[in-house]
Amino acid sequence: MPPDNLIDGRSIANQIHSETAVRIEALKRKGVQPGLAFVRVGEDPPSQVYVGMKERASERLGIRSETHVLPEATSEATLLELIHKLNADSGIHGILVQAPLPPQVDSLVVFSNVSPDKDVDGFHPINVGKLLLGDRTGFVPCTPAGIHELLIRSETPIAGSDVVVLGRGNIVGKPMAALLCQKARHANATVTLCHSQSRSLRNHCRQADILIAAIGVAEFVQEDFVKPGAVVIDVGVNRVTDEQAKGGSRLVGDVAFLQVQPIAGKITPNPGGVGPMTIAMLMSNTLRAAEILVR
Ligand code: GUN
Repeated sequence: MPPDNLIDGRSIANQIHSETAVRIEALKRKGVQPGLAFVRVGEDPPSQVYVGMKERASERLGIRSETHVLPEATSEATLLELIHKLNADSGIHGILVQAPLPPQVDSLVVFSNVSPDKDVDGFHPINVGKLLLGDRTGFVPCTPAGIHELLIRSETPIAGSDVVVLGRGNIVGKPMAALLCQKARHANATVTLCHSQSRSLRNHCRQADILIAAIGVAEFVQEDFVKPGAVVIDVGVNRVTDEQAKGGSRLVGDVAFLQVQPIAGKITPNPGGVGPMTIAMLMSNTLRAAEILVR
């Protein structure tokens, strides 16, 4: 029998959704319905799927959502115009511009133009700064915030532990490292941030009590990267060709799950681990953006 060491992201996300739903009802009784705007540029298939999932989660929870789809060739100026309109719309409490954006658009400029009060993605420089400073009034990016909740709610000891974050992207790796090294409850970890240029990457990973794989390489983390008993979090979504699979391809994570599960202390399944948590934290951030207004 396989070890029962899975961190069930779907079930933890559902707990968070239930908590969020109660607070949304309370807010509605005060006459405010949270509103969330999605902006998607182009027809990137994974982005279509992700935004669709976020729309459905909003609807289930009673968050009003609207989706703006712009053509692939949209200029930065046109996209900024839409963002400024949404910034000024009092019925919209959260704005999410789905990444990746096409090359003619500078994503740093785009994210900097979302009002920091509506920046439920936590990508605005003010929110990035607040996270680094330990100022809890900002928004934390949804995937790292979701992983943090997974660790907390699976009772994984964080304080004093050695955490290795694999991947230094702005959406996951960097904010994840910043969250876990804070001098704060459920943090205080010793964090090593590794990436494609790191020397002895495997040796770093082998030291980790908590290994967070967000490097975007299919099944990169093999058995010999993992200290027996370590907690392994798989953020990756990679499409690989597989002649046997429907459509000739399938999705795999950044962790070689079948190899790693038997030696891990705990591990996230993929799918069903980090993905549902990202959505749960987006809903929770949107609720908070709306709650702040009525206080
Ligand atoms: N693309 C991949 N992850 C994310 C995310 O968390 N937010 C946005 N806006 N785009 C993404």
